[in-house]
Amino acid sequence: MEFKTIIEPFRIKTVEPIRGRSRSERERALAAAGNNLFLLKAEDVLIDLLTDSGTGAMSSHQWAGMMRGDESYAGAKSFYRFEAAVQAITGFKHVIPTHQGRAAERILFGTAVSPGEIVPNNTHFDTTRANVEYRGATALDLPCPEGRQPQEYHPFKGNIDLEALERVLQEKRGQVPLAMVTVTNNSGGGQPVSMANIRAASELCHRYGVPFFLDACRFAENSWFIKLREEGYADKTAMQIAQEMFSYADGCTMSAKKDGMANIGGFLALNDDDLAQRCKNLLILSEGFPTYGGLAGYDLEAIAVGLHEALDENYLRYRIRSVEYLGEICMHNDIPTILPTGGHALYLDARALLPHIPWYEYPAWTLSLLLYLEGGVRAACIDSVMFGRQPDGSELPAANELVRLAFPRRVYTQSHFDYLAEVLVYVKELAPRLRGLRLTYEPPVLRHFTARLEPAHGQLLAD
Ligand code: F0G
Repeated sequence: MEFKTIIEPFRIKTVEPIRGRSRSERERALAAAGNNLFLLKAEDVLIDLLTDSGTGAMSSHQWAGMMRGDESYAGAKSFYRFEAAVQAITGFKHVIPTHQGRAAERILFGTAVSPGEIVPNNTHFDTTRANVEYRGATALDLPCPEGRQPQEYHPFKGNIDLEALERVLQEKRGQVPLAMVTVTNNSGGGQPVSMANIRAASELCHRYGVPFFLDACRFAENSWFIKLREEGYADKTAMQIAQEMFSYADGCTMSAKKDGMANIGGFLALNDDDLAQRCKNLLILSEGFPTYGGLAGYDLEAIAVGLHEALDENYLRYRIRSVEYLGEICMHNDIPTILPTGGHALYLDARALLPHIPWYEYPAWTLSLLLYLEGGVRAACIDSVMFGRQPDGSELPAANELVRLAFPRRVYTQSHFDYLAEVLVYVKELAPRLRGLRLTYEPPVLRHFTARLEPAHGQLLAD
C-alpha cells in the first residue's frame, strides 16, 4: 500500500523554541524597525520566511562532519573533501571556496567583467545585479515571455529567452564577457529552467565564443523539477540530472546557504585555468587562501555533506510538495500567487491582490507588513523597493510586485504550514483596506535592506 501523505523525511533531534508576540508588541517592533522587516529583531518573529538562505537545519551527518573539520591554514583535509564533493556533482576542474554566493560573484565579475560590458542572465538576483553594476557593466535580464506573466502556467518559467540572448550575442559581439542562467530563477518566482533551455543557451554562447555560467544556488531543486516535468528525465536520478546541467556550463557561482544545506559558505567553480588563477589571486586579497576562502574547515565539511543531501529524492519530494500544498490552499481561496508554485518559496502577487495600491506606493511591501502584524510571519519582497531605483537615479516599476514566503530547509513542519494558510486567508480578507507606503530613507544601493518607510495615507489599514 502506498499512502498518500508525504511525511517530513527526518525526525527532530534538537528543538529551538519560538514564541509569539501580541499584535501591539508587533506594532511597536515594526515602528522601531522603520516598517522594514529586515530591521526587526528575529526574536520578534514567529515564523521566519525572510529567506531560505543559511536558515536550514543541518543533519546529524553534517554535524558529525563538522567534528572532522581540519583547521589547517593551507591544504586542509576538509578542503579536499569539499573539492571532491563539488566535483562529483559539477565536474568543474577548479573549485574556489568563498564565504557565500555574492563573494563568488564579486570575484568572478571582478576578474572577468569590465566597465561598459553586458552580462545577460534569465534574471539576475539582487546581489548578482549589484555586483555586475558595481563593475560599471550592465546586468541584462532576459526571462522567457511566460516568466513575465505571474498567473500563466508553464512548466519552465525560469527559462532564458533564447532569441533575445542570440540577439544580444550577435549585436553586442565583443561586449559580452560571459552569460549566466540562474537555477532556479529566484527573482522570477523560484521557477525552474529546463535542460533543453540550458543546453540551447550553452550552445548559443559557445557559438559566439562566450563563456556560459550557472548561478547554481538551487541546482538540486531545479534538477527535481526537470525530473518531474521534462520528457526523458523521469527515470534519471536528481544527481544524474544535476551532473548533466553542469556539463553544459563553463563554471558556476554557488551559495551553499541554499542547496548546500549549510548556514554559511559558497564557491566559484570553473574550467578555465587562466581565469581560475586570476580569481584565486583576487580571493587571497579579500577572502583568504584558496583552500579555505573565508570559511572554517568545519564549514567546508558541512557543505561537502550538505550538497549531496540536497539531492536526496525523499527530501526533494517533501520539500517541493510542501510549497505546492500551500500554493493549492491559496488557489482555492483566490489568493493570487505565481503559478505554478516554485521550489524554495511561494510568491504572492501583490499587484493582483492590491490593484488599488500603485507601484510607487509599494503594494508588496505593504502586504508583507500586514502578514507580520497579523500573523507574526516575516516574508521578503521582490518588488519596486528592491528594483525600482535605476543606476541613473530615476525610479521605474519592477517587473512584478511579489511577496516571497521562502522556506528554510528542514525547519518547519506541516502544522506551521497550516498556520500560515490560516494567516494568508485572514490577510486576504483585509486586503481591500490596506493602504500604500512612502520611503523616508533610502541608501544608495541595495536599498531594501536598510530603507525606512511610513504609511502614505496616515495608516496602514483604513477603517
Ligand atoms: N544568487 C541567487 C539566485 C540567490 O538567490 C542569492 C541569494 C545569491 C545569488 C547570493 O548568495 O546570499 O550567499 O551571497 N539569495 C538569498 C535570498 C539572499 O534570500 O534569496 P549569498
